[in-house]
Amino acid sequence: MIQRRTFLTGTTAAAVLTPRPLFASSPERLTARPGAVQLAPPEYPSTEIWSFDGLSPGPELRLPQGVRLERRLVNDLPEPTSIHWHGIRLDNAMDGVPGVTQAPVEPGGEFDYAFICPDAGTYWYHSHLKAVEQVERGLYGALIVEEPDKPEIDGDHVLILDDWRLDANAQVMGGFDNGHDLSHGGRLGNVVTTNGSMDLVLPARQGDRLRLRLINAANARIFSLGLRGMTGWIVATDGMPLAQTRPAPDRFTLAPAQRLDLFVDIDAEPGEDATLLDVVGEDSYALTSFRVTSSGASRKTPPAALPPNLLSDPPDETAALPLTVRMEGGAMRWLTEADAAGGRKSGQELAADGLFWALNGYAGRPADPLAKVDLGQAVLLDFVNDTMWPHAMHLHGHHFFELDAEGKPGDFRDTTLVQPDETRRVLFTAHNPGDWLLHCHMLGHHASGMGTWLRVG
Ligand code: C2O
Ligand code: CU
Repeated sequence: MIQRRTFLTGTTAAAVLTPRPLFASSPERLTARPGAVQLAPPEYPSTEIWSFDGLSPGPELRLPQGVRLERRLVNDLPEPTSIHWHGIRLDNAMDGVPGVTQAPVEPGGEFDYAFICPDAGTYWYHSHLKAVEQVERGLYGALIVEEPDKPEIDGDHVLILDDWRLDANAQVMGGFDNGHDLSHGGRLGNVVTTNGSMDLVLPARQGDRLRLRLINAANARIFSLGLRGMTGWIVATDGMPLAQTRPAPDRFTLAPAQRLDLFVDIDAEPGEDATLLDVVGEDSYALTSFRVTSSGASRKTPPAALPPNLLSDPPDETAALPLTVRMEGGAMRWLTEADAAGGRKSGQELAADGLFWALNGYAGRPADPLAKVDLGQAVLLDFVNDTMWPHAMHLHGHHFFELDAEGKPGDFRDTTLVQPDETRRVLFTAHNPGDWLLHCHMLGHHASGMGTWLRVG
């Protein structure tokens, strides 16, 4: 006994005296690198992708609310990259936008990201360099921030939707910057996946209440979704809890980069499937099937709202600074001219440079911000869509309230879908200091002109 105790004490003392190796404090790695996954059915070869840690979606990052996330991005790709933490109201220096908040991470290079995740909810991370190609090749994953008090549910499923444009050998087709995609609805795929699978099947029991965290990681596809064999409620939009849960409508939309948290009660009988449906015209396809194996206890009451995040009350609109972002260009309303790097250009000159869209008359990211806004200032922003195409407009570092037709604050989002000839008014407080990108999340639209930025503070 004594000998053993002495031995243990000795070990402890030695451990304390030994200097800490340098790598003990280095963050966990997230490696951007080529990989291969089986996207297409088994008779096809696997698809070569770009990935985080060899997977697409990349590893699910999950942490408690208010905790610091630390990851070292290691770039093992043949070209520079970066990571943007979409929807996190983080420190500007960690926002991952090359040319705005950091330098590109070169091949063989590294970058340490570290930031607090102040809000609970469903977020995601993705490359923010040549995203029209890099995200398309698979560089994205889920970032889940958990509420301190877990809601009463029987399961929590992250479902990342994407579409891929594959050739006959199931390889990702090139031509990411082809002018037709850029100037129209963006690059749509021919294979739709959930978590990298064309037919994801998950087990469930009848009566289960599940949380579904839907994330649209597609380049440009606007999903129209439905539920069969389950009763659903929307509980959060773009990570932010609704003050009151609301029944999921028959069809609901998920634009690129948007998230929806649903609570669903499984109604389907044992032996049947409850399905998340992708609705395309008159047809619907199963994106995810919950195979009901048995019956559990069912709940009789609709779910309660999730606890609100901080800074989630709408500001006073009367003191708000009015701003406008006018979207112009694209097929059928081609730009006749616009400002761009190097001065004023004709529509033809712009098209030759791969620019098809403008925000407030400027194609591409201007040297000057859309506006300089004081820290704490309320902003009333109109997205005016003067094009023939829908656009999913995203503001970094903030969430905004979508205002309804009567001007009342509705959902609290970081990405809003604006239909052709529609104006969407949003209201927010510029609470986060720094330079924040504001762009269309149809990634080809961003690449061909639809991006500007706000300076806060
Ligand atoms: Cu999801 Cu500018 O990004
Ligand atoms: Cu767009």
